[in-house]
Amino acid sequence: MEAYAGEWLQLVIRWVHLITGIAWIGASFYFVFLDLSLLPPQRKEDADAGVSGELWAIHGGGFYHAQKYKVAPATLPDPLHWFKWEAYWTWLSGFALMVVMYYAHAGTYMVDRSVADIAPWQAVALSVALLPAGWIFYDQLCRRLGLARERVLAAAMIVFFAAVAWGLSHVYSGRAMYIQVGAMIGTIMAWNVFFVIMPAQRKLVEAKLDGMSPAAVHGLRGKQRSVHNNYFTLPVLFVMISGHYPLTFGHRHAWLVLVAILLIAAFVRHFFNLRHVGRTVWAIPIGAAVATLLLAVAIAPEPPKAAVWTFAEVERIVAIRCATCHAARPAQAGFNDPPKGFVLDTPAAIVAGAQKIHEQAVASRVMPIGNLTGMTDAERATLGAWIAAGAPPQ
Ligand code: HEC
Repeated sequence: MEAYAGEWLQLVIRWVHLITGIAWIGASFYFVFLDLSLLPPQRKEDADAGVSGELWAIHGGGFYHAQKYKVAPATLPDPLHWFKWEAYWTWLSGFALMVVMYYAHAGTYMVDRSVADIAPWQAVALSVALLPAGWIFYDQLCRRLGLARERVLAAAMIVFFAAVAWGLSHVYSGRAMYIQVGAMIGTIMAWNVFFVIMPAQRKLVEAKLDGMSPAAVHGLRGKQRSVHNNYFTLPVLFVMISGHYPLTFGHRHAWLVLVAILLIAAFVRHFFNLRHVGRTVWAIPIGAAVATLLLAVAIAPEPPKAAVWTFAEVERIVAIRCATCHAARPAQAGFNDPPKGFVLDTPAAIVAGAQKIHEQAVASRVMPIGNLTGMTDAERATLGAWIAAGAPPQ
């Protein structure tokens, strides 16, 4: 009953996270597109009123005419729409998901004893501490480098995340390492909205209310963070779905795979942003596709060594290493049902599950989760050899 309620809790939180994330990232795509597609205003009155750019669009059967002011309009319009709750709710629901999925089961999902023998509470404490740490590093860097040295900033952030991924690959399971890097990126994005973009906008509005002309620097500072967030969108989305792909986080050099994918993703975002200003650089998506292909080839699982196998031996390995959890009634403490409904407790089930066994326990070391049952390399090789022989049922 408890496990059932937990599943529902996860489902609801995940759903909310997806909805708010779509709203937030959708707004980010739209406003960056809008900003980069603006043309100088056609009417002189608009230019005189302080409009710096405008855009015409047709959508859903209607014409839209958006105008951007260089700093602010003469009088503050009412109502004035703000975009912040989608960011806050994405972060809150993301953190809640982190709690119910990872922190509540840190011993299984975060700790991997073959990587580091840390206590579950240590895994959680480190994760929680790193969220603000990542933000502080990035925020200080932005403040110190100012508005004009974006390339230096980008290089520093790449090195930073590569170092975090590498460091965490010595502490967490591959899967937890990925999600932690994703959570840190997501935190930077949401806190950019909370700590920089919203305060900058409030300053603009307050100055208007006091009858003064607001300083343009507030708008520029907000804009800088908003553009950074835009470059983070595709990388963070990859991390959010990465849990389904052991071929990435299960690799021996999972941290390098992660860095490569994050870079490719940000690069693809750059293609769109250039295209919005009228420069279509096909070399970017082509380069990204080639890089992805090369990565796929580079991390392809090696063919299994010619280990000897017998079906009795395969059954024995699966029974002691997998079926403690993957059985109709798991013997492993803390498991009431087989995880993901995946069972390996009969010969027929083992044969039917051969491809999945290969994916999770031979081509990668994702299973047994956290290697709780202490599977050896020789056992993985035996399973691999059996599967390579066509996974025959005897
Ligand atoms: C300590 C418990 C435990 C052991 C032992 C274990 N698993 Fe798992 N397994 C899990 C959990 C938990 C999940 C769900 C992970 C998730 O949420 O994505 C899982 C998921 C899976 C999945 C994904 C199923 C799907 O449809 O998404 C496969 C395949 C799998 N395990 C295979 C294995 C194999 C093969 C072994 C033995 C080598 C093994 N597991 C040992 C706990 C375990």
